[in-house]
Amino acid sequence: TELEPPPTDLITLTRHILSQQYALGETATGDLTMLLVAIQVTSKYISSNVRKARLINLVGLAGASNVQGEDQKKLDVLSNDIMVNALRASGKCSVMVSEEVDDTIVVKGSKGTYACVFDPLDGSSNIDAGVNVGTIFGIYKVSEGSERGMKDVLKPGKEMVAAGYTMYGSSCNLVLSTGQGVDGFTLDESLGEFILTHPEIKIPSRGKIYSFNEGNSMHFYPPVISYLESIKYPANGKPYSARYIGSMVADVHRTLLYGGIFGYPDDKKSKDGKLRMLYEAFPMSFLIEQAGGVATTGTQRILDVIPKNIHGRCPVFMGSSEDVEDLKKHYAAYD
Ligand code: AHG
Ligand code: MN
Ligand code: MN
Ligand code: MN
Repeated sequence: TELEPPPTDLITLTRHILSQQYALGETATGDLTMLLVAIQVTSKYISSNVRKARLINLVGLAGASNVQGEDQKKLDVLSNDIMVNALRASGKCSVMVSEEVDDTIVVKGSKGTYACVFDPLDGSSNIDAGVNVGTIFGIYKVSEGSERGMKDVLKPGKEMVAAGYTMYGSSCNLVLSTGQGVDGFTLDESLGEFILTHPEIKIPSRGKIYSFNEGNSMHFYPPVISYLESIKYPANGKPYSARYIGSMVADVHRTLLYGGIFGYPDDKKSKDGKLRMLYEAFPMSFLIEQAGGVATTGTQRILDVIPKNIHGRCPVFMGSSEDVEDLKKHYAAYD
């Protein structure tokens, strides 16, 4: 077959963001573009550190723990510092929340019109085994006249203006939405550019994969137990497949592209589940909804939840609309 001629109209991430911002007309100031360009640079840099981690002794523990009570990996801390420094230097972000930093970060004297919440390295328990990890981020607009602080981020996820993740796997994929659909980009390392490879991602309305950590089954509440039973022993005799990587970015990325349902329920052991609202549940729910899927706590839309503290957690079920609606029926049955 004819080899595809090299594209002469390369759509890089920066060009794509600009085109979306131009579409907004006069309201676009270029600030969001500059912020996303800064995030793009952090993704490239974190990717290069993840890839060579084992070569430069960057795997393993940092010897400290975070507010989550987790032992921080060296790459958790490194990725966090890369993100904080780049966002501060962008001049567009005046408030930050990171999984790895106890308190809200306010950039002194900044007039930046955005607040950025992020999980600098998601799935870090998988690092030492070379399994996919990622970075997750969400962006809120700072309210007019705000004196900039926690209240700029203790907002429901539906107020985010952009969200995305970068997955460091067999290739480096950045998936982004600025509220106008979801687009996926693949890093071309020879150019150092993220190239548009998955335009307008739409999640299938139903899938054949479920993604839960069933090691927690003994703690699950009845609605989750009965839902899982319904897809493992279905009347039609065609059970779903189980796929669980343990990095939210990888499990959600597969769900976004293949369909199905990803869940991290609340249970008797974890009363709010494990996933943090600001920098895990909200950004991923934003993307899933923008791609035509559904994201619920089981009883309410995740993006409607108002976080009480910056590291607050919530139950998470997200993915194909039909699959998640099925899950919600099991909760309704226990009302
Ligand atoms: P992080 O590495 O940022 O702390 O996040 C880990 C999260 C998420 O990536 C994943 O979905 C979940 O932890 C897996 O938890 P279990 O190992 O309990 O299944
Ligand atoms: Mn962690
Ligand atoms: Mn995480
Ligand atoms: Mn993390």
